[in-house]
Amino acid sequence: MIKVEDLSKSFGKIKAVDHISFQVKERENLILLGTSGCGKTTTLKMLNRLIEPTSGKIFINGENILMQPPEILRRGIGYVLQNNGLFPHYTVAENIAIVPQLLRWDRKRIENRVSELLEKLHLDTTYLNAYPNELSGGQQQRVGLARALVADPPVLLMDEPFGALDNVTRSKIHAEFKALDELKRKTIIMVTHDVQEAFELGDRICLMDKGRIIQNGTPAELLFNPVNSFVKDFLKEQRLQLEFKALHLIDIWDWLPTSKKRETKLNLMSDTGLWESLEGFKFTNSEEISISHQNNEIKTVGFEQLMAAFYQYKKQQTHE
Ligand SMILES: Nc1ncnc2c1ncn2[C@@H]1O[C@H](COP(=O)(O)OP(=O)(O)OP(=O)(O)O)[C@@H](O)[C@H]1O
Ligand SMILES: [Mg+2]
Repeated sequence: MIKVEDLSKSFGKIKAVDHISFQVKERENLILLGTSGCGKTTTLKMLNRLIEPTSGKIFINGENILMQPPEILRRGIGYVLQNNGLFPHYTVAENIAIVPQLLRWDRKRIENRVSELLEKLHLDTTYLNAYPNELSGGQQQRVGLARALVADPPVLLMDEPFGALDNVTRSKIHAEFKALDELKRKTIIMVTHDVQEAFELGDRICLMDKGRIIQNGTPAELLFNPVNSFVKDFLKEQRLQLEFKALHLIDIWDWLPTSKKRETKLNLMSDTGLWESLEGFKFTNSEEISISHQNNEIKTVGFEQLMAAFYQYKKQQTHE
């Protein structure tokens, strides 16, 4: 869906983005991860031509976007700006309606779509006529997301969309983000400097440093097959949590004991994340969970057995 080839951007002597290439499949969620100044925002802005590249090519849906008029290109791309970028002198409703106004939708259609999005994003309709500075940080971020989603573009670019939030609000929004049907249909590139967030929301992660991509892979690849010590060090903090977030039940399936089928409160598919499964034990207060694998194979396991399988998996990874 998106293909970036040998892309660079220099500002005078600064190489903000330095010969990067990557691809994003349809409906995939790619994270650009890296410390401040490594070129994440510059990369994102080249994808909707808010910044023109110094060299390189970008294709979206097979089309070379540098040959397209920027206004046409941007109709197919939703953009959530770093620090939400809402217009302070526009109400919430007006902020969300900017693109539909440009597209000349009729009033009723705009109203319907705006209310639909407010509901999906858990924003009360009483905020419709409020101004951004009357909203909390989390609410402003939701309005920014609604604005990007309003015309249902196939591609979504998000620059630190949850950056300004405290941890509790952030995990709440993460959960909603993962559950939102409209987002599941989209091809997303999201920028963050938060490793936990990258592992929670990304199908794949491009870890960047000084304008370059150091490693592009799944969360599990970055953790268990880091290309160099930079990657390893970057993921050093809270490594155990990251491992739970990177792995799925299917990864540790072979080490889970086979068992007779028993009734359990919690039934999970084997593509469920390990982190989510552990939380399942906690929230349902279950002794055991049932895991269904392809061909309807089912294993019923307890917490200890799950952890034992996880440590077996890790042991095998480090021996390879
Ligand atoms: N318009 C500009 N003019 C000159 N230098 C710029 C410009 N925009 C970005 N830069 C420089 O390019 C580099 C990359 O900036 P960029 O904004 O892409 O980083 P970032 O990874 O998004 O950082 P952050 O996490 O702080 O948002 C930085 O060194 C920055 O100072
Ligand atoms: Mg930035």
